[in-house]
Amino acid sequence: MELCVALDLPSAEENLALAESLKTYNVWMKVGFRAYIRDGKPFIEALKKINPDFKIFLDLKLYDIPNTMADAAEEIAKLGVDMFNIHASAGSVAMKTVMERLSSYENRPLVLAVTALTSFDEEHFQKVYEKSINEKAEQFAKMSYENGLDGVVCSTFESSAIKNATSEKFLTLCPGIRPFGEDAGDQQRVATLELAAKEGVDYPVVGRPIYKDADPQGKVRQILDVISSF
Ligand code: C5P
Repeated sequence: MELCVALDLPSAEENLALAESLKTYNVWMKVGFRAYIRDGKPFIEALKKINPDFKIFLDLKLYDIPNTMADAAEEIAKLGVDMFNIHASAGSVAMKTVMERLSSYENRPLVLAVTALTSFDEEHFQKVYEKSINEKAEQFAKMSYENGLDGVVCSTFESSAIKNATSEKFLTLCPGIRPFGEDAGDQQRVATLELAAKEGVDYPVVGRPIYKDADPQGKVRQILDVISSF
């Protein structure tokens, strides 16, 4: 299990200070909408300058027509990040087109598909997708697996069912982790690290419980201690 830290702070300086404080830890840096829209490619370069070995997950959840998604995927591969994601609901043609386009890259980034956002509860999810979260997440995961993606973004509660329906090696990245009972915020399906480990989660994502803590570095240390105890 590898911790993914969400860099969702209000300025590049604050995100980079957080990254700087974590440079000796073996953690992934998650760059999402807020940071990338505001700070772009130079921010990725600044992260790599802090620690060239930081693994970077660009969380931009691509959703568009297949060719536009593949163009964007190629630009992402050129950035040199290690992982990015698309929306599974973009469909199998989009998935195939993206993976085909990346096939010429020797060290292509891992590609994950978002199944059901962890901010959805069952009722609101069904209003959009007309199926239960479990059913739809599994269906999206199978489609992603069959089209050559490396894994999915899902909640901890779907992780082991998804692996059973695809492969143990099919990666699950799960936001909504609240390691020590912190406030859920807008997340509806939150889980502990213990549950994440039990459900075979590969990448637990933690944002606010780290960066809103008075001692983010200490919080990461505590989380890594728990992870290493499994
Ligand atoms: O602050 P918190 O720990 O809830 O952060 C979760 C992070 O994971 C946020 O950056 C959010 O955008 C991202 N995310 C998510 N649900 C997904 C995909 C990404 O919460 N399905």
